[in-house]
Amino acid sequence: MTDLDMQYRMDLVRRPRRLRTSNAMRELVAETHIEPRHFIMPYFVVEGEQQVQPIATLPGVSRFSVDMLMGQLERSLNLGIKSVMFFGVLDADKKDEVGTTSFDPEGPVNRALREARKNFGNDLVLMTDVCLCGYTDHGHCGIIKQSEKGPVVDNDPSLDQLNQMALSHAEAGADMVAPSDMMDGRVGSIREYLDDFGHSDVGILAYSVKYASAFYGPFRDAAGSSPKDFGITGRHTYQMDSRNVREALSEMYLDEAEGADMMMVKPALAYLDVIRQMREHTALPVVAYNVSGEYAMIKAAVAAGVLDEAAAVRESLLAMRRAGADLIISYFAVDAIEKSWL
Ligand code: PBG
Repeated sequence: MTDLDMQYRMDLVRRPRRLRTSNAMRELVAETHIEPRHFIMPYFVVEGEQQVQPIATLPGVSRFSVDMLMGQLERSLNLGIKSVMFFGVLDADKKDEVGTTSFDPEGPVNRALREARKNFGNDLVLMTDVCLCGYTDHGHCGIIKQSEKGPVVDNDPSLDQLNQMALSHAEAGADMVAPSDMMDGRVGSIREYLDDFGHSDVGILAYSVKYASAFYGPFRDAAGSSPKDFGITGRHTYQMDSRNVREALSEMYLDEAEGADMMMVKPALAYLDVIRQMREHTALPVVAYNVSGEYAMIKAAVAAGVLDEAAAVRESLLAMRRAGADLIISYFAVDAIEKSWL
């Protein structure tokens, strides 16, 4: 036999299609799976009562007042979801330059935490987003200072605000706080602050690798947190440059050293390589944030008759898991489980 004959024979001996012959066979050899416990369901919480406010750019997602939120949490819990994350949305008249209301014990997130604990005990892991952008009148994630070079987001004074915000969430019963502001040193700073106030059992899910991304637009509509332009363009001076991946590791190593309990990559779909890198360089749980723009993109394609929703959602969530994410924050979580898309 010539080498070529040999090669041909080998190809016919090895037939990968044998393992794809039936649904049962494919189930048997599937490498990746998603269960309800892999999800963290995000919720936007508003002030007031009886509020269910649909979000135009996030079809199917609404903002809820605390009273209306409880039914949603119960629905998630009944589906087997173990964790939820709260994002506070404030009326414009409650915002100021330094985000003071971010640590108001009567703010929507803190009220939601107390109410959720009362209703669900320890059955749900309660997480909160910690960031100033929804609470500052300029919409930046930190405090602005004027410098000779123009306005800058001032790192260290911002940490004081974030510490207080994290503490207020811990006092209201959060299990984990998730700083998403991208100020340097915030994980260590929050860790120390929480410990000083007796909350060493409250964990930190660090948005370690958060890119300055075009995919947060619908979230900013939902939270009213778009940064105003006055010399600081977007969030590029604090969120990461999408060209970089070594920098992602350096952010990750810092957060791990500062005491993060879990670490996140955000967004997910355009950064699957970064999720894989993080998976290979830490033993901590890795979280992927399937962000608002990723959700809206699929919804728009489905509405236009371009994609099948169930299949597209399943495939993209599986991609995050396959890339190495233990947990996924996704606006699709409830639908995906309820409608058996997984
Ligand atoms: C707050 C925050 C943002 C998101 C999560 N936390 C917006 C931003 O950084 O502008 C985005 C989440 C999403 O798009 O779903 N800093």
